[in-house]
Amino acid sequence: MQAKTPKESLTTMTDMVLPGETNPLNNLFGGELLARMDRASSIAARRHSRRIVVTASVNHVAFNKSVPLGSVVTVEAKISRAFRTSMEIYVDVWMEDRESGMRTRANEGIYTFVAVDETGTPVAVPELIPETAEEIARFEAALRRKQLSLILSGKMDPSEATELKKLFGC
Ligand SMILES: CC(C)(COP(=O)(O)OP(=O)(O)OC[C@H]1O[C@@H](n2cnc3c(N)ncnc32)[C@H](O)[C@@H]1OP(=O)(O)O)[C@@H](O)C(=O)NCCC(=O)NCCS
Repeated sequence: MQAKTPKESLTTMTDMVLPGETNPLNNLFGGELLARMDRASSIAARRHSRRIVVTASVNHVAFNKSVPLGSVVTVEAKISRAFRTSMEIYVDVWMEDRESGMRTRANEGIYTFVAVDETGTPVAVPELIPETAEEIARFEAALRRKQLSLILSGKMDPSEATELKKLFGC
C-alpha cells in the first residue's frame, strides 16, 4: 500500500450558520458543529484509506469561541497519523469575518476513525508521511493521544502506555 501525505485527504467544508442550528444565545449549537466535524473527518479518513470508515472515538473537542448566527464556517479535516487500521483526524474550524474576510480559528477536534471491510472487520490503511511543521508536530503527538484514548476507553492498561510514561518521566 502506497504511503500518502496529509494534503491528499484534506477535506474542506464551508457553510453558513442558519437559524435552526443555533442555541438560545443565537450561537451555533455544539451538536451541529460536532456533526459537521464528524462528516468532514469521515470524508478525510475515507480519502486516505479508500475504505468504509467508522468513528471509533472523539478524543478531544475544544469549543474555544462561539460562532454567531449567520457566520460563514469552514471545517478543515486532515489525517494527522495513520496507525495499522486506525487514523487520527485533526479538525480545525474557522470563522470568516464578514467585512475583511479574515479567518479566525474558532474550534478544533481530534477524531479516530477505523477502516473496515464489508463485515465491519478492521483493515490496514496506508502510512502517512507528514510534510509541514504543523503536520509533523501533530503526527509526533498522535501516538500519545491514541494511548490516552485507549486507556480512557478501557482498552489499554496504563502500564503499557509507553508514550505517556515518557511524558511523565516514568
Ligand atoms: C471501531 C471498531 C471498528 C473497533 O473495533 P475493535 O474490535 O476494537 O477492533 P480493534 O481492537 O482491532 O481496533 C481497531 C483499531 O482501532 C483502534 N481503537 C479502537 N478503539 C479506540 C479508541 N477508543 N481510541 C483510539 N483508537 C481506538 C485500535 O487501537 C486499533 O488501531 P490500530 O489497528 O491502528 O492499531 C468497533 O468498535 C466498531 O465498529 N465500533 C462502532 C463504530 C461506529 O458505529 N461508529 C459510529 C458512531 S456510533
